[in-house]
Amino acid sequence: MYPAWLLPTLSSAFIIAIVAVFHILPSHFATGALWLGVYVERKAIKENRPELMEFLKRFSLLILVFCFVYGSITGVGIWFASAAASPRAISTLIHNYVWGWATEWVFFIIEIVAIYAYYYTLNRIAPEHHLRIGWIYAWGAWISMVIITGILAFMLTPDKWFETGGFFDGFFNSSYWPQLFTRTAFMFAIAATYAMIAASRVSNLEVRKEITRLAAKWGMAGLIGGAIFSSWYIAKLPETTKELMNALPYLKHMLIAAAVLGVMVFLYFAIFGMAKPDLSNPIAGVVAVVILFLAIGAGESFREGARRPWIIGGLMYGSNQVIAKDVPAKGVKSEVDEINEKGFLSRLYYLPEDLRKITDGNKLEVGKVLVAHQCAGCHSLKRNGLIRPLAKLLSGMEEDEIKDILDSLGDYSYMPPFLGTDEEKEAAAAYLAKIANE
Ligand code: HEC
Repeated sequence: MYPAWLLPTLSSAFIIAIVAVFHILPSHFATGALWLGVYVERKAIKENRPELMEFLKRFSLLILVFCFVYGSITGVGIWFASAAASPRAISTLIHNYVWGWATEWVFFIIEIVAIYAYYYTLNRIAPEHHLRIGWIYAWGAWISMVIITGILAFMLTPDKWFETGGFFDGFFNSSYWPQLFTRTAFMFAIAATYAMIAASRVSNLEVRKEITRLAAKWGMAGLIGGAIFSSWYIAKLPETTKELMNALPYLKHMLIAAAVLGVMVFLYFAIFGMAKPDLSNPIAGVVAVVILFLAIGAGESFREGARRPWIIGGLMYGSNQVIAKDVPAKGVKSEVDEINEKGFLSRLYYLPEDLRKITDGNKLEVGKVLVAHQCAGCHSLKRNGLIRPLAKLLSGMEEDEIKDILDSLGDYSYMPPFLGTDEEKEAAAAYLAKIANE
């Protein structure tokens, strides 16, 4: 085991959620953007309307800056945050999908080179060559989504991979296609929101109106498609997730919030795009982006929450990152029995000697280490913490009551069991009782 990343007030879960939502906006904008771009450019060439190029200049500069400065930074941020929060889970994914990521990065590089070429050669090379660069970007960007979605879907439903250990058996799993279609539809809606902002700054009024309407159409179609495909995605979720949705009402609330916010964006497209394109302006556009941001936050909270108590569905628990299933095809064995017998501490190679054995003197300190590994990935510790603060949930409880809760933790459909020896459970309970009564 690697050391735990302990953030008592925020919790690592919160950091990951924030960085992820900040990344989804630019990443889905990046994958959807130039499909709209090449559509407009083809129109410009076919109908001989060079005035449409002004929009493309503004739009591609927005893509370049927003996606490839801000988007790239948040992308690295996700790697950083998730590797610090769940190093074992990332390691497991890398061991299985390193070639998947390598392939994604090839397409990512194509995307980066293509957008620079696209922006800087606009109106400088023959239009048909320029259009070709646009196509290369559009396909390259979307294919990077085709690849990363496989790895994301694997984390929820590894399915046949459990039997075969095969790369593609895990990749094209039961939640893959619905998730790919959902993301593809929503990427058009996200790209359309930005296109409306870029269009609202175009000087030619006719072009401004025309592109605003066009973008709104794409956006509305994307939202409708996204709504249909997300219902398919929800229908395809594993049974355990459906049970989880009954046990955790907040998951349903997140879906409802995402739907309501989605309707608001739809209305934005309908009013500022279709009905009154004259009203479209950058400020309304930024407000729409903020609403999108919140909608994505709600949707992603659902997607992440739907996996509980697992970080990799059925294979590895969240927070403690212990493997809980045999996968003979991969030579992977469940670690649960051994940890319960020999102790969780026996795996914490990084701990100094004097914390490896529990004594009266170090009990609270060791308890904190155990809680950091086994609870803090999903809970803040402090009373004023942001995510399900344990000090509050356990407020006023005595040590033996808390130990009873630890004994039955695995009975909750959304939490892993406490793993370790009875003595370790007592140490964790002692520490939890301390923070619960501070
Ligand atoms: C995989 C994530 C996860 C881990 C790990 C986890 N919990 Fe939870 N815990 C949850 C969720 C989700 C809830 C439900 C909160 C809610 O209702 O919104 C919860 C609720 C609780 C509750 C309230 C009980 C209830 O009726 O819902 C307690 C107490 C609790 N957790 C203690 C712990 C302790 C102690 C640990 C560490 C040994 C732990 N949890 C580890 C996710 C987790």
